[in-house]
Amino acid sequence: MHSARLSRAALFTVLLLTTGTACTGSVGRTAGAAGPGASSAGDALFPTLGNRGYDVAHYALTLDYVPETNALVGTAVITARAKQALSRFSLDLMGLEVRDARVDGSEAEVRRVRNKLILTPADPLRSGKVFTTTVRYSGIPKMITDADGGVEGWIETDDGAAALGEPTGSMAWFPGNHHPSDKALYDITITVPKDYTAVSNGELAGLQHKGRRTTSHWHTGEPMASYLASVVVGSFDISTTTTTHGLPVYIAIDPDEVEGSPDMAELVPKIIDWASGRFGRYPFSGTGAIVDHLPDIEYALETQSKPYFEEAPDETLVVHELAHQWFGNSVTPTSWRDMWLNEGFATYAEWLWKEDQGATTADEIFDAFYHGTHPESKGIWDFPPAQPPSADRVSDPPVYGRGAMTLHRLRLTVGDKCFFTILRAWSTRHQYGNANTRQFIELCEKESGMDLAELFEAWLYSRNKPTAA
Ligand code: TRP
Ligand code: ZN
Repeated sequence: MHSARLSRAALFTVLLLTTGTACTGSVGRTAGAAGPGASSAGDALFPTLGNRGYDVAHYALTLDYVPETNALVGTAVITARAKQALSRFSLDLMGLEVRDARVDGSEAEVRRVRNKLILTPADPLRSGKVFTTTVRYSGIPKMITDADGGVEGWIETDDGAAALGEPTGSMAWFPGNHHPSDKALYDITITVPKDYTAVSNGELAGLQHKGRRTTSHWHTGEPMASYLASVVVGSFDISTTTTTHGLPVYIAIDPDEVEGSPDMAELVPKIIDWASGRFGRYPFSGTGAIVDHLPDIEYALETQSKPYFEEAPDETLVVHELAHQWFGNSVTPTSWRDMWLNEGFATYAEWLWKEDQGATTADEIFDAFYHGTHPESKGIWDFPPAQPPSADRVSDPPVYGRGAMTLHRLRLTVGDKCFFTILRAWSTRHQYGNANTRQFIELCEKESGMDLAELFEAWLYSRNKPTAA
């Protein structure tokens, strides 16, 4: 496979280097000697993604998009810090033509191997160095079909396009360190023909009409994993409002979906206020939603600050995607294996919403899942939620349903007060960062003072259906 080929090549270079230093009498790598670094973040399920040799602080993406031809022209300015000395490094990019690349202003050599852009800067980067990479690129961005049949990447709609990045699609529209463990700030500036609207993450920091083109600048001032970055181009009705706490709310709805949609300008602030009470302060400086018309993809995505709905959503789905802003977006799994920390939590948020609305209790929903009478319970016992067996199963029912059930069992075990303290502590302690399942279990044990090993073993790791008791 691709990763194996790359790492063999990397290993070969390391061997050459070590042989070189051995001749000078030192053993192993001299401190500061710049090797090529790994070309992966080391994810067990997605071994080709990302790069652990550097840490991106900021992406400035300047894009020009023409919906009629689906042509994208982009410049990415990536500010990063080398975590080790690097003679070269990789960025993830799928398709598109790279015009040139510069590192700290000097032309870098560019090679492409599958979905890796391999850059060799004129001067090696010393460990700890903050460096700026500029990549100029263009082309027709690709739509990606995943092993599970889902589509992501750059997807054309009937009136524009939507860039959806979970789990790997962001490499279809900008070069980057496309693994959730490397979060960064973003400024996305996009120019489209003037009859179109372009919406992205964060706040609208500038809007300019020039001739037949409109340029909008979207600023994301809190760390974001690249799979949550998005641009959506189309025709939209825009409305803005604020939550009771004064948080700005930006809603974009495709005119084709207005009729079927709930009143989003009312519903989004209502859910954000409710969720803030349950999960702690809303983590970002703005919120909202994008309701597009792309029914074929059959999923919504929790794109940061403004979740994306492929068609008019029902209330529960809006709760799910907004709950992700705490669980997934602010606290992001360190690796894709821990997807249940996203989907189990967002699903449980739906149950809590229904309970707080007085519709049905979380306990009743749990029972319906356990006994297989709930329509979403199909397949939830296929594998334990903290151990998806392969990349194409990270969004399968156990991750959602049995993940949510795990939280309900935790709640029954530690009691309501402790459970909600745990949820708030989780979102506060790891705000804007990454965390894994082990850290969640440790937090639960610390907050409750209980030994919860058996509970989590049964619900997260055991292949058997746990006893309900
Ligand atoms: N995260 C989306 C949700 O809110 C679902 C989803 C879309 C997804 N694409 C994915 C999950 C890829 C895992 C992998 O439910
Ligand atoms: Zn989800």
